[in-house]
Amino acid sequence: MFWSTVARAQSFMPTQATEIAKHVDSLYAFLLISSFIACAILIGGMIYFVYRYRRQTDHDKTAYITHNTFLEFLWSFIPLVIFLAVFAWGWIIFHEMRTPPEGAREINVHAKQWSWEFEYKSGLKTYNELIVPVNTPIKLIMSSEDVLHSFYVPSFRIKQDVVPGRYTQLWFNSEKLGDFHVFCAEYCGLSHSNMLAKIKVVPKDEYEKWLTESYEEGELTIAQKGAKLYKAKACVGCHSTDGKVVIGPTFKGAMGSEKEMDDGSKVVVDENYLRESILQPTAKTVKGFPKGAMPSFQGQLSEEELSALIEFIKEQK
Ligand code: CUA
Repeated sequence: MFWSTVARAQSFMPTQATEIAKHVDSLYAFLLISSFIACAILIGGMIYFVYRYRRQTDHDKTAYITHNTFLEFLWSFIPLVIFLAVFAWGWIIFHEMRTPPEGAREINVHAKQWSWEFEYKSGLKTYNELIVPVNTPIKLIMSSEDVLHSFYVPSFRIKQDVVPGRYTQLWFNSEKLGDFHVFCAEYCGLSHSNMLAKIKVVPKDEYEKWLTESYEEGELTIAQKGAKLYKAKACVGCHSTDGKVVIGPTFKGAMGSEKEMDDGSKVVVDENYLRESILQPTAKTVKGFPKGAMPSFQGQLSEEELSALIEFIKEQK
């Protein structure tokens, strides 16, 4: 495509490691070039008219022109079409950027002043280094232990705030091997500028090999850690995993399902709903269950424990 060829020629842009990066750059190149053209027509036209219709003698009279409907229509309608096209184009890219494909590999990200912790399903953790397989959609489920941070990967053209008290997500699919910078893009205190990480994109077999080799005997997966908490925090007393209704709703098939609340509203169960229900059980109560029957676990679970418990619930399909 013409525009992506133009975009690729822009050496001032970082490497394009994802499909989305190419789309973003195409749009950016279009904006840049169309702005240049508009600027040339406007300023060039102005200079030409100033020269062409300059006053020649002291007796020149200013021409009496009130308006020209056709011209006015053109210079309103053409930019309108261009702006609407830019909006639609941006919307399509934004949607693509915000919608992780089905079956993307999930990795938990915990941000804290001033480092990034990555937690894989296997329970393995890395710090300031995220290792991922090439050509594989990766979905990051991000939480913050303290203040607002922002996960920014210039080469992937993605950025998302990491907000304390909730989960935010981000996805990418790197088509290129190599190391890519991660910056914290939200001022978060003294060492904000040092809150850096690296994404290492490796071939798929190398990734699997690394996962296996890094496995330590007896290490629990995130879901297994969650299973322990499920018993230790006594969730098991009220929430079954086999579909039976004890006191609270069952965890079986909960993730992704639509539930009706006691006020008649509908909620699709996702990470943020589960989080809220654990920390503030009275915020949204499923219809037919007693409100206030569950104690709040606010302050009793670390971010990591909370995501482990949620991972366990998600596994109860
Ligand atoms: Cu974290 Cu800036």
